[in-house]
Amino acid sequence: MLILQAENVIKQYRQYDEVIYAVNRASLKVEDGEFIAIMGSSGSGKSTFLHVMAGLIRPDYGHVKIRGNDITEMSQDELNRFRGQFIGMVFQKHNLIPQLTALENIMIPTVMCNKEEFHFEEHLKKLITTLKIADRLNHLPSELSGGQQQRVAIARAMINRPQVLFADEPTGNLDRANADEVLDLLLKTREVIGQTIVMVTHDMSIAEKADKIYLMDNGGLELFKDNKAI
Ligand SMILES: Nc1ncnc2c1ncn2[C@@H]1O[C@H](COP(=O)(O)OP(=O)(O)OP(=O)(O)O)[C@@H](O)[C@H]1O
Ligand SMILES: [Mg+2]
Repeated sequence: MLILQAENVIKQYRQYDEVIYAVNRASLKVEDGEFIAIMGSSGSGKSTFLHVMAGLIRPDYGHVKIRGNDITEMSQDELNRFRGQFIGMVFQKHNLIPQLTALENIMIPTVMCNKEEFHFEEHLKKLITTLKIADRLNHLPSELSGGQQQRVAIARAMINRPQVLFADEPTGNLDRANADEVLDLLLKTREVIGQTIVMVTHDMSIAEKADKIYLMDNGGLELFKDNKAI
């Protein structure tokens, strides 16, 4: 089943007289449960495309459908609710709120999520154990290491059990050992939830673990490698 479908997405930015096509007719189809990696040089449009697919930026043209629902056609209220229900996001810079503790940061998305009979407590316990941050919940982000902050950001993105998780270089600021550990935890957590992951990464060894690798170039997207193909 197709869970995510981006069609001909265009997002342009105006800088003075210049128009930058950050995303230029990018399309992507993702099956339920797939792990997709997006690679590409700096400035090629990866973060912008990810933000459009996650409903954080409205495209100038094109459509994004998640579970068959066109998020580009939704009102802001509908979109906020839909995102709270189905979409998780790990940002390139993890964007933790400095004044809130790790636990408070993790629980932010639950405010927008009203899944009935869903017990956050149980799920929270699983996440913080898997991500090894159970003993850091009352710390402020400034009191955590870079890797711990990243893991808190991952827990925050996963607390709602989103069906689709977008992750923008979740291992970007980490050393090799830490990056591998965070990826392992991400994939382990994914097994628990069974979700779809679309991840931007510069790290080839991480991309090799994905089902498919796409390459972004100058705002366009093409399939680079199908790791499941024989
Ligand atoms: N808010 C903005 N206003 C104007 N231009 C922007 C804005 N955000 C991004 N851009 C431009 O859009 C293009 C794509 O940026 P984007 O951040 O999507 O690239 P990226 O592939 O994620 O790069 P990196 O690997 O460095 O994170 C770049 O040329 C960038 O300068
Ligand atoms: Mg980026």
